[in-house]
Amino acid sequence: MAELLGRHNNVGFTYYGPRLKKLRRILHKSLNPVVLSKSWAYLLKQQSTELCWALSENPDNGYHVVELVVQELITSFTYGRKPDEEYLALSRIISERTGEALQPGRWTVNFIPALKWVPSWLPGAGFQKWAQDARRIFYRIVREPFQECKLKMKAGVAEQSFVQQSLSELASDAGHREEEVVMFAAGSLFSAGTETLSAVLLSFIALMARNPDVQLKAFNEISTHVGLERLPTIEDRRFLTFIDCIIQEVHRMHPAVCLVPHSNTEDQIYNGYHIPKKSWVMANVWAMLHDNAEYPQSDEFSPSRFEGTSPSADPRIMTYGFGRR
Ligand code: HEM
Repeated sequence: MAELLGRHNNVGFTYYGPRLKKLRRILHKSLNPVVLSKSWAYLLKQQSTELCWALSENPDNGYHVVELVVQELITSFTYGRKPDEEYLALSRIISERTGEALQPGRWTVNFIPALKWVPSWLPGAGFQKWAQDARRIFYRIVREPFQECKLKMKAGVAEQSFVQQSLSELASDAGHREEEVVMFAAGSLFSAGTETLSAVLLSFIALMARNPDVQLKAFNEISTHVGLERLPTIEDRRFLTFIDCIIQEVHRMHPAVCLVPHSNTEDQIYNGYHIPKKSWVMANVWAMLHDNAEYPQSDEFSPSRFEGTSPSADPRIMTYGFGRR
């Protein structure tokens, strides 16, 4: 069903092979920590300042404020411009439809894949109309901002962005197919980045509100190393060790992605279980991060578990997934 929606073009739904390798190479060039902290530090600073202002001006609407600032961050990173209302509304529809398309057991076409060839006008093929409608919207939100960025590049007025950088790094004889890979890599970022990042920020705010003692310790660390005249930047990060423990503990308490699906390319036997090729193997990140053996009293919010000479394992080795699928 996800394929009928056109979502197989997204990196998250692409099976391992040459296309996934290309997508991941392009994404990795811009999304690795070194490049992010150098080339994109200005954007992170700009959006974190905006988030602080927006939250202080509109504290009762925190959920919406966080969501919007994160959406602006991701589209500015991807296309060099903030999203308009229409883009956000269409993205919301796609997110809902994709969620429905992935509901286990809901769609007959997932059990009988040949049904994907059934024409939409046949009685009982309403699912085709539903999918076509979503596919049209999905291609629109992927194509339109990409084309706009390309036009701006031609006119010499494009802002720095993932699309602008990736296209300028393509070989001069790169064809339509190469450009399409950049387009779909860019089209994957909104859905991959917005809900995850908003979820982590909202968990952070809720956990800080419920743990004023932790909040005070964090505040003291910032006032000692950064002072109170400016916001911390990415360069201050190495001095803010307790803040880093808080970030780890937020990820551990409320991982943004609790179950991470990967798929095996060959039949496999594991611990006596036969796992057929192309199964969905779900890594239960939440369970691993609430394992009392590694994280004693795992239901308690305790950033100090990551301090000292024998800290608990950094949860981020799990919360960001497990590499190529
Ligand atoms: C704290 C926030 C985030 C968390 C917890 C998170 C977590 C994850 C997880 C669990 C996966 C699946 C990896 C796997 O299959 O093993 C993933 C994939 C991905 N994420 Fe994030 N993510 C976050 C933020 C972002 C942001 C902000 C972006 C983009 C700007 C992004 C872009 C991607 C992309 C492109 C993939 C697909 C990578 C691939 O399949 O090769 N993520 N993320």
